[in-house]
Amino acid sequence: MSTVTIGSKADINAMVEPDRVHKRCYTDQAIFDAEIERIFERTWIYVGHESQVKNVGDYYTTLIGRQPVIMVRAKDGKVNVVYNRCPHRGAMLCADHSGNTGTTFKCPYHAWRFNLDGTLLKIPVIEGYQGTRFDTSDPQFHMKKVARVDSYRGFVFASLVPDVPDLVTFLGGAKIAFDDMCNRAPDGEVEVVPNCFRVIQKSNWKIFLENQLDAVHPSITHEAAGRAAFEVEKDIEKRTGKKAHLQYHMLSAFTMPFHKFDAMDNVGHANGHLVFRGYMDLRRADPEMVEYLKIMHAKHGEKRTEEILSVDIHHVIGYPCLSVQPPLQQLRAIRPIGPDRTLSEIWHFRLKGAPEGMYRRALAYYQLVNSPSTTINADDLENWWRCQQGLFSSGGDWVSFHRNAGQDRVQANGTIVSVTGMSELPMRHMMGAWKDYMVKGAAQ
Ligand code: FES
Ligand SMILES: [Fe+2]
Repeated sequence: MSTVTIGSKADINAMVEPDRVHKRCYTDQAIFDAEIERIFERTWIYVGHESQVKNVGDYYTTLIGRQPVIMVRAKDGKVNVVYNRCPHRGAMLCADHSGNTGTTFKCPYHAWRFNLDGTLLKIPVIEGYQGTRFDTSDPQFHMKKVARVDSYRGFVFASLVPDVPDLVTFLGGAKIAFDDMCNRAPDGEVEVVPNCFRVIQKSNWKIFLENQLDAVHPSITHEAAGRAAFEVEKDIEKRTGKKAHLQYHMLSAFTMPFHKFDAMDNVGHANGHLVFRGYMDLRRADPEMVEYLKIMHAKHGEKRTEEILSVDIHHVIGYPCLSVQPPLQQLRAIRPIGPDRTLSEIWHFRLKGAPEGMYRRALAYYQLVNSPSTTINADDLENWWRCQQGLFSSGGDWVSFHRNAGQDRVQANGTIVSVTGMSELPMRHMMGAWKDYMVKGAAQ
């Protein structure tokens, strides 16, 4: 019998090899518990966008690891993130996903009141506490603030522990996700479109991230949807002599042959982040784009507009919780619930100052590709569930990441580049970061 403790350094090292990982990384409850503690509760996690809490008292609730938190706009304009827990007997202060709490939080159980930074404001019949150890200045009687909160271009992150690098340093190469999306807005900012889709994926959180930069699967998994769209697109073009609406291309692009996907590249950055180059033609001659370009030129000049639009990214992974598609104004945040349960929040954004047609593009992609009711996301969900079920079986112990293994190129700046677009570098890179977090957090 093995003497190695589950989740120990030796155990983690044995599970992650350069070209394969052990299935326990995806199925074991103890490993899942360890990754919540050592990854999700030990680093910067995306909470939400500032535009979700525009007015004083606006709040949004979500999870950081297993911790329920509230993002709230305070009277001084600051966005605070506090634990969603009353310091009296523990009741969650906010049970809804979002709302407005007024100028204070009021606990529904015994009406303790708190300021919007979590500090205790008032308790009914406080005389009852005279002569006890209760003390209004003691932090244990206030709602607890998370250790760190910061935002980058309106995207709010929080960390439950204080000893993390500053947010910009942590984001590093993934910063471009937010720069690219915001720079494309004539006003330099984006605004969230309420509300998000929430989907429980019946699969491990890592399977979702691995799929996002998996360039082998689109033309296979999404063949039926892609080919149907391609045929209609061609038919429209034949009948009208004009290009079909971009929406058809959003789907038909999934049928791109292997060699085109293989010509793309994946770049791995520090902390497990990844950037995948764009492959969809966003068609500058379309009417909404022409209108948009006019506004951008007037605001930023042609040279700067070209600089902004020449950034060609399809996808950014902000490890461990984000998938961002900046030119299409999409963001998905994942919240792991269990080894085989992952909550995803699927958002899209408006470019401030851009014409309505540009928003319609983002909405089309949101509805056609990222929404749970599309054939694209549904096909992916099916694969992820199948992977999870197969990994639970005794039919094998390892998950293969061998495609182009050993060929990843380390650049002078420390980034890692894949030799081909279909390389499994993204999976290897993320598991490298996973191993770093897990080993670092191990007691022995
Ligand atoms: S549990 Fe909140 S006031 Fe009692
Ligand atoms: Fe897919």
